[in-house]
Amino acid sequence: MTSEPKPPAHAPARRGEPVPAHLLDDAERMPREEVRDLQLRRLRWTLRHAYDNVELYRRKFDAAGVAPDDCRSLADLARFPFTTKADLRDTYPFGMFAVPTSDVRRIHASSGTTGRPTVVGYTERDLATWADLVARSIRAAGGRPGHKVHISYGYGLFTGGLGAHYGAERAGCTVIPASGGMTARQVQIIQDFEPDIIMVTPSYMLTLLDEFERQGVDPRSSSLKVGVFGAEPWTEEMRREIEERMDLHAVDIYGLSEVMGPGVAQECVDTKDGLHVWEDHFLPEVVDPITDEVLADGGNGELVLTSLTKEALPVVRYRTRDLTRLLPGTARPGFRRIEKITGRCDDMIILRGVNVFPTQVEEIVLRTPAVAPHFQIRLSRRGRMDHMTVRVEARAGAGPEQRDAAARAIAQGVKDGVGVSVEVEIVEPETLERSLGKLRRIKDERDS
Ligand code: DLL
Repeated sequence: MTSEPKPPAHAPARRGEPVPAHLLDDAERMPREEVRDLQLRRLRWTLRHAYDNVELYRRKFDAAGVAPDDCRSLADLARFPFTTKADLRDTYPFGMFAVPTSDVRRIHASSGTTGRPTVVGYTERDLATWADLVARSIRAAGGRPGHKVHISYGYGLFTGGLGAHYGAERAGCTVIPASGGMTARQVQIIQDFEPDIIMVTPSYMLTLLDEFERQGVDPRSSSLKVGVFGAEPWTEEMRREIEERMDLHAVDIYGLSEVMGPGVAQECVDTKDGLHVWEDHFLPEVVDPITDEVLADGGNGELVLTSLTKEALPVVRYRTRDLTRLLPGTARPGFRRIEKITGRCDDMIILRGVNVFPTQVEEIVLRTPAVAPHFQIRLSRRGRMDHMTVRVEARAGAGPEQRDAAARAIAQGVKDGVGVSVEVEIVEPETLERSLGKLRRIKDERDS
C-alpha cells in the first residue's frame, strides 16, 4: 500500500499491489502439478486418519464399501461418502474429533439457530495452520507487516474474530480486536488508531459507514485502505458501493467453521476476480446439489470441501451448501478459484416455482438511485400463494416521486432479471434493522 492521493469517487475499479515474491508462501508458487501431488499425499493421510480415529467415518466408509487405501488418485475421492452438518450435530459435541480432547487446544461452535450447534476443534498444529492461512489471506488482500488491522468480526465461539486475530498477528500486523457492536465507538477508534485494514462482514461495514456519516465524518478520509469482507454473501454491486463510499479495496474472504473458519479461500487484491482456494490444505469439488454428481470445473453447483492437513477434525467431502463454481487460478496459478458465492442452498427462496436468491435482489437494489443499500425480504402467504415483499430504505432527501420511481424500477428489475413479481415498499431512512455481524435478510412469515 502506498500513500498516493486518493482518487475521486466513481473512479473505475482499482486493483491493488500483488504480493512481493519474498512474502509468498512456498505453496503459493507451486505449479499446478506439484499442488496435485501434494494433495494426493495429504488426502490419503486424511482418509486414513479419519477412518482410524472417527467412528462415524469408519461406519460411513464401510457402508459405502470403500477403504482409505482405495484412494489412488484425486478422482477416487468421488467414491467416498459425503459429510454433512447433520453428521456433526448427531455426534454432538465431540464425536467427530479424531484426537483425544486433551490434544484439542481450542473449540469453536456455530450459533445453532436450528437445533444443536456444531462443534469444531483444533490441535496446536491446526491453530498454527489456520493462523498461517489467514496471514496468507491478509497478504493477498494487500496487508503487509506493520499494518494495523481493525477486526470487527465477533470474538467468541464464532470463528471470525479469533481466526482473523491470530492470522493478522502471524502476518506481522498490529491487531485492534474491536469485535462486533458498539458501532459509534468503533468509528471513533478507527479515526484515532488509524488502521490500514478492516476485517468485518460487508453488512456491518455498511452499518459502520452510516455511522461515519452520522458523526459528520467523511468515510473517504479514513486511514483504511483495505477491507477483508466475508462470512456472508455479497455482490459486485456491494463492492462498488463500499469502495466508492469508503475509498478502499474491498476483497472477499471465505471460510466456514466446519472446515476451519475464515481463510479457506481468499480473493487477491491485484485481480479481484474470485477467491483462490488454499489448495495445499483444502480440496474443493463442486457437485450438483440434487443428483450429487461431481461437476467438471466451471459447472455451477454446491461446493464440497475436504481438509488435507487437519488433525482434530478432519472433514471428508463436507457439503457446504454454498453455491459457486471452480475456475482456474490467476494470481496463484497453482490453485483454483471459486467464483464469488451467490448464496446458500438454504437461502434460496422458491417463489411460485422460481428460484430467488437475496444476492439477486441486492444487485438490483444497489443499482437503483434514491434508495440506500439497506433492504429486507419478507415472505408471507396470501391465500394459497407465497408473496414476497422487498422493503428498501429511501436515501435521505429522496422525495415521493423519486421513491415511487425507485419502487417501480426495483419491481421491474426483479421481474426482468429473476422472473417473479414482487411488491416493493420504500421505507423511511434508518428504519430497517442494521447488521451487527451476519445479516439475516429474509423474514419468513409464511407459517406465522
Ligand atoms: O462465517 C467463517 C468466516 C468468518 C468467514 C469471517 C469469513 C470471514 P460460519 O459461521 O461457519 O463461518 O459460516 C460459514 O458463511 O458456509 C457461507 O454460507 C457463509 N460465508 C462465509 N464466507 C463467505 C463469503 C464463517 N465470503 C458460512 N461469501 C459459509 C459468501 C460466505 N458466503
